[in-house]
Formats: sequence, structure tokens, C-alpha cells
Amino acid sequence: MTTVALAACISRFARFLAVMAMLVLGAPAVSAPHDRALHQGVATCAGSTCHGRQEATGPRVRQNEVLTWSNPASLTGVHSRAWKVLNEPRAQAIGKRLGIANVAASAECINCHGDPAPVRGPKWQQSDGVGCEACHGGSVNWLASHASVKASHADNMAKGMWAMNNPAVRAGVCLDCHFGSDKPGQFVFHRIMAAGHPRVAFELDLFTSLQSHHDEDADYRARKGVAGGVKTWAVGQALAVERALSLLPAASGSVTGPDYYFFDCRSCHRTFSDDPAAPLVARSNGWRPIPPGQPVWNDEQMIMLVAAARVAAPDLARSLESQSRAFHAALGGDRAGAMKAAATLKATAANLAKRFAGASFDRAQTFALIDAVLAANAGAYTDYQGGAQAVMAADTLLNALVAAGQVDRGAALALRPDLDRAYALARDANRWDALAFRAALGQIAARARALK
Ligand code: HEC
Ligand code: HEC
Ligand code: HEC
Ligand code: HEC
Repeated sequence: MTTVALAACISRFARFLAVMAMLVLGAPAVSAPHDRALHQGVATCAGSTCHGRQEATGPRVRQNEVLTWSNPASLTGVHSRAWKVLNEPRAQAIGKRLGIANVAASAECINCHGDPAPVRGPKWQQSDGVGCEACHGGSVNWLASHASVKASHADNMAKGMWAMNNPAVRAGVCLDCHFGSDKPGQFVFHRIMAAGHPRVAFELDLFTSLQSHHDEDADYRARKGVAGGVKTWAVGQALAVERALSLLPAASGSVTGPDYYFFDCRSCHRTFSDDPAAPLVARSNGWRPIPPGQPVWNDEQMIMLVAAARVAAPDLARSLESQSRAFHAALGGDRAGAMKAAATLKATAANLAKRFAGASFDRAQTFALIDAVLAANAGAYTDYQGGAQAVMAADTLLNALVAAGQVDRGAALALRPDLDRAYALARDANRWDALAFRAALGQIAARARALK
């Protein structure tokens, strides 16, 4: 994650969302739909009586969503800038190294840095970047009807608007660009990383709040229900694990095995020395029974998923743990064995996503989750990427407790300095210090326990 986003995470902790209630939502789809509906472009949504108001004064929805989405001074506007960044020096340099003449027109870039609409109306513009319909679905069949007072959520969905309130559907849409998909041009191969692309980090609930342009008020709850941060987090973790394992077979064609994108960057990008006095930097990790020198599958979400399963699906937790160990080990063997282990683990992750989607996480479970992520799992955080995911989890779960009115906001705010310290320790992969980081997490865990 960029420094910008990490800084925003810190301020987000103080921003606490409105009070939320848990509600059971539908079963998950595994990935975003292949959208065949015509996309009409942001201009179609931007009328002053539609989503183009200057203030959030709409009777139902704010109606100033276009302004929020295009805010140049905030992360809420990041998607409106997604294509523009391709015209800046950093992107141009990536293109130069890859031999792409114009990244702003290249299918390798614009399907994530823009709306990958298959069919485009006259007002659709590439320069809008990730526009409304990239997340809400092509509007051709619902644009006219969705603003009517009679239009229900169900009507809109039936006409092809996407159920972005459903954590599983949302995860599918975000992961297409914030992890990768099998659709054309939606994968950040390691060669793109090696040409200078930033690492792609993601956590569904936190990232939702960073770009949010909606209110989960009483009216929203009545229309759609509110999934809540804990469920959103848990479903997001399960589907991130599932997505990576789904993409693995296709991206494993080369002689060096799966694309390096799937692995923990720091398992290859470490310093080394021939000096016998220089200590080795890799630390043994019981979660991964692999020999020294084997690249480590990026297990940041697998670690979170184990915590979530222990709390909310204990009957599956043990098999999940043994399957993830078996998968790490199998990656050191032949292709058939690795794919078999991946398929088993993938099925369990998909199963867990369904279980979490149907669960309601209460106060005690949220505290148990915080403990599972920060304390019980501490041994898993030998590497940077797991650590960065753990601190986002701490932020999200604490935030969810406050949002649900389950802990006092002031008491939770007292944890901020500890959280800020953990974020600071997870800011720079090259300065990763596992022991200092674990100590910081331990401190948050102890203070969180005191909130019980
Ligand atoms: C799978 C989707 C995907 C593809 C393909 C992709 N990107 Fe990105 N790109 C992202 C995401 C997501 C981010 C934000 C990463 C973060 O901070 O978490 C990003 C960030 C960037 C940034 C940093 C932007 C900033 O605000 O600093 C640049 C530059 C960039 N991408 C260029 C490119 C170029 C050039 C290509 C094509 C060669 C490309 N990207 C392909 C998803 C993608
Ligand atoms: C990056 C994905 C993304 C983009 C781009 C996006 N949205 Fe959203 N939007 C969401 C999510 C997630 C929600 C909250 C879940 C939901 O749909 O109720 C939401 C909620 C909304 C809501 C509130 C819905 C309600 O029932 O209260 C409106 C209105 C809305 N978006 C309009 C827009 C408009 C207009 C644009 C373009 C200017 C836009 N969105 C761009 C993801 C996105
Ligand atoms: C069509 C591709 C696409 C989709 C779908 C998408 N994003 Fe993004 N998102 C991007 C790109 C590209 C960037 C980086 C843009 C930049 O830095 O200029 C980005 C940036 C972000 C950032 C800022 C991250 C950072 O580190 O700076 C957040 C937060 C975010 N997206 C949240 C979401 C959420 C939540 C969803 C799903 C509701 C979503 N996005 C769906 C492409 C997408
Ligand atoms: C399996 C080992 C491996 C993994 C895992 C790996 N890389 Fe690499 N990376 C390499 C190799 C090999 C090179 C080429 C080094 C060279 O050309 O000197 C490289 C080059 C790079 C470079 C260019 C460095 C430079 O200064 O020229 C960047 C940046 C990079 N990788 C980022 C990443 C990121 C981000 C990840 C995680 C998503 C990652 N790598 C995962 C092996 C790996």
C-alpha cells in the first residue's frame, strides 16, 4: 500500500463510521460478473438533480457522489484519477521499461486504471478513469428506472445494477483490480512490478471506507441492510484467498512456475552477505513448513482467514490450517501436487466465504477476532506483507466495535497511538522489523482486551 493510503488509514481510525447493525445478506458470488451491459459514462450520472449536487442533501442518497468521487484533495477521489496517473512520469517510465509505447492506451493498464466496459455509449470517456459503472454495473437497463421513488433495491438488481452492499459481490468487483482477475488486462504480472508498479495491497472494509460516498443510515438499512465491518472484513479475506488460488493455474505456465506476483515480495527481495558474521534475515515460520530458500506464497490473507475461521467457523479451522500448510509445502514439489493442494484450499476458502456471509458477528466474537489476529497469530508475522494486513485488520475490527456501539469511542481512541505505531512499523517493507512489529501488536491486543 502506498504511504498515502497508510496515512489515510490512520486518520480513518478517528473518523468512525455511523452506528451499524448486522444483517444477513445473500450467498457470495466468486467473482465480479462479466459485464455485458452498455456503460454510459459518468456524465450520465452527473446531472444536478442526479448525483451531481454540490452538497449531500439528497433525500435518500447523498446525491453529491460525483463530487466525492472526483475530489482531487482526497482518497475518495482516487478512482477518478486512476487513468490520469497513466499520463504521469511514473507510469510512462513503467511503460518505457516494458516497451509499451503509450500506457494510457494500453490494454495492459487501462482495464484496471479505467472502466473496463465492454460496450460504451457516446458519453463514456476513458479519461473518467474508474467511473461509477465500473463498480455499480453498466446502467443501460436501469438508468431510467432507478431514480424513481418506486424503484426498490430488488428491481435495480434485477435490471443489472450490482449488489455492492453485499460483501461477496463487492469483494468480487474490487478484487478484479485490487488483486487481479482472469479478464483481459487485469493482472499485475511481476514484470509490471519489476518495471516500477507499486505493490497492490487490499482489505475490503478499510478500502471501502477510504473511497466511500454513501451513508449507512436508517433509510439505507431499510432498503438494503447493513453487513457491518467485521463480516465485510471476513468475507473479503476469504474471497481474496480464493481469488489468488483461482488464478494460480493460468499464471503458472513458465518454467519458473507461478508468476512471482503471487509470492511474498520480501521472500526474494532481501539483502544477503557472504560475511559469516552477517545474520540471516529470514525467520522460521511454523505456518509454512518449507525449506530455506523457497519463495513464500503471499499468505497475508490466509493468516487472517485462519483467525476468522477459529472464531466463526471452528469446525473448519483445523482443516484450513492443515490445508494451508500442505499448500505451502506443495509449492516446493511438482505442478500437479501444487494444483491439487491449491484446489483443496480454494474450496475451503469459498466455503468459509459463504459461512461468513451468513454469520452475524457479535461483540464477543469481534473481541475474539482481535485477539486471534493480534495475539494468537503473532508467530505468523515473520514478514512484511502479513504484518501490513494484520495492522489493517486491527484498525477495521476496532472500528467495527465502535461503529456498532459496542465499545466507547473515547476508550477506543486511546488505542490510536499504538495503532499509529504499528502502521508506522508497517510502512516501509525495507525496514521491516518483525520483533518490533509483534511487540506493537501485542500492545494493541492487551489494550483491546481491557476494552472488554
Ligand atoms: C490488476 C489491475 C492493475 C493493472 C493491470 C495495472 N494497475 Fe497500476 N495500479 C493498480 C492499483 C490497484 C493501484 C494502487 C495500488 C495501491 O496503492 O494499493 C495501482 C497503482 C499504479 C500506479 C501508482 C499511482 C499513484 O497514484 O501513485 C501507477 C503509476 C500505475 N499503477 C501504473 C500502471 C501501469 C503503467 C500499468 C500497465 C503497465 C498498470 N498500472 C497496470 C492496479 C493495476
Ligand atoms: C470503486 C467502486 C465504486 C465507484 C467507482 C463508485 N461507487 Fe458508488 N458505491 C460503491 C460502494 C462499495 C457503495 C456502498 C455499497 C452500496 O452500493 O450500497 C456505493 C454506494 C453508492 C451510492 C449509495 C447507494 C445507496 O443505496 O444508498 C450511490 C448513490 C453511489 N454509490 C453512486 C455512485 C456514483 C454516482 C458514482 C460515480 C460518480 C459511484 N457511485 C462510483 C462503490 C463505488
Ligand atoms: C476497474 C478497476 C478498479 C476497481 C473495480 C476498483 N478499483 Fe480501487 N483503484 C483502482 C486503481 C487503478 C487505483 C489506483 C489509482 C491511483 O493511485 O491513482 C485504485 C485505488 C484505490 C484506493 C486508494 C488506494 C491507495 O493505496 O492509494 C482505494 C481505497 C480503492 N481503490 C478502493 C476500492 C474499493 C473498495 C473497490 C471496490 C468497491 C475498488 N477500489 C474497485 C482500480 C479499481
Ligand atoms: C521468486 C522471487 C521473486 C519474488 C517473489 C518477487 N520478485 Fe521482484 N524480482 C525478482 C527478480 C529475479 C527480479 C529481477 C532482478 C534484476 O533484474 O536485477 C526482480 C525485480 C524486481 C524489481 C526491480 C528491481 C530493480 O531495482 O530493478 C521490483 C521493483 C520488484 N521485483 C518488485 C517485486 C514485488 C513488488 C514483488 C511482490 C509482489 C516481487 N518483486 C516479488 C524476483 C522476485
